Amino acid sequence: MKNLTIEEAKRLMTESMNDAVAAFAPGRIEFLGNHLDYNGGLVLGTAINAGIYAIAQPTKDSSFHLFSESFKGSQISGSINQLEKQSGKQSWANYCLGVVQVLQDMEFAPTHGFSLILSTDLPMSAGLSSSAAVELATAQCLLQLASKQVTKKELVTIGRRAENEWVGLPCGMLDQGTSAFGELDQLVRIDCSNENFSTLSLPKDTSFWIFDSGIKHDLVDSLYGTRNQECMDALSILQKQDSSLSCLAHCSTTLLEQTEMAENLKKRARHVVAEQERVNQFTQGLQNGNSIDQLGKLLTASHHSSANLFENSLPELDFLVDLLDKEEEVHGARLTGGGFGGAVLAWTTTRFSQKRADSIAQIYEKEWNTKPHFHSFLPSHGASHLDPLDIRFKR
Ligand code: GLA
Repeated sequence: MKNLTIEEAKRLMTESMNDAVAAFAPGRIEFLGNHLDYNGGLVLGTAINAGIYAIAQPTKDSSFHLFSESFKGSQISGSINQLEKQSGKQSWANYCLGVVQVLQDMEFAPTHGFSLILSTDLPMSAGLSSSAAVELATAQCLLQLASKQVTKKELVTIGRRAENEWVGLPCGMLDQGTSAFGELDQLVRIDCSNENFSTLSLPKDTSFWIFDSGIKHDLVDSLYGTRNQECMDALSILQKQDSSLSCLAHCSTTLLEQTEMAENLKKRARHVVAEQERVNQFTQGLQNGNSIDQLGKLLTASHHSSANLFENSLPELDFLVDLLDKEEEVHGARLTGGGFGGAVLAWTTTRFSQKRADSIAQIYEKEWNTKPHFHSFLPSHGASHLDPLDIRFKR
């Protein structure tokens, strides 16, 4: 090849990538509001500065090809006219295929095939919702290939439907909502009863640290579905007392305590009702300028409620929360996401250091014989299109 200037190289590459499209969707941290989303509650999350990058190009026929840098060697190919659910090692592709199916149902899918490559700088299985990020990055690419535009809210619905209907997880909209509506230095506040999205400014001088226990949780096979069902069962018992009650998060403590139900249902409902109250207190407290210490305590209280009432914690996560809670620069700590493994969030001052994180990881290692991975993240912007030439695939 003759020597090219950078401009010539760019022009050549642009020509061969003429019809390529690209997108990014961030991972998210669930800040407060554990298991409230599918109960019609208020949840707070933040998009983070790591996520899923996707690049796609049309094929000349109806074939599709999916590649992921995180799951090397597992290319999945098929026809857009005959989508098939994947299992085992190939199941990551379901987050993409679910999106294709939903877009086809909406008549918003490309009518030709496509190749799609995913890459990521998100730690996997750490409770940071790589799955929602895959859905949103895929959806944005396919919508561009089909020359269709949707609102952010519609994008959230597409991702959530893919997860509910194709993957089979009865999740709420926290993950997709936070990934779509994230903004720099902001918390995303979602009222899941009316799908209202807004943002809240975070106090200055705060950081987020994630301590990943490394315990992998396969949400689909886990107790997530059972918890969801228990909440629905509690709701239908409560609705016999008050037919105007539309969701569990809106139940009053009085009604809950007056109503007889099995102990496990009561515990789940108590968590949901009290967690909704904590989110309200946090939101009001933030607006009223309450002390960060006071606000942080709500996070730690949320963890204890998850552990004792919702029973979705593990001793390893409780151990991390207890350690973090003793740290001077930590405002509050709690499990983040579905639970049953995964990660703990520490909301800290910016003075919380790598050295402190290291020493916590060492204490944990002594107890559990394995070192937790830890990462610090910044509240960041939400899903967006990218210029395919700008995309940097990371290894
Ligand atoms: C997972 C789900 C979310 C939400 C959280 C728990 O992350 O995907 O929809 O239910 O668990 O709050």
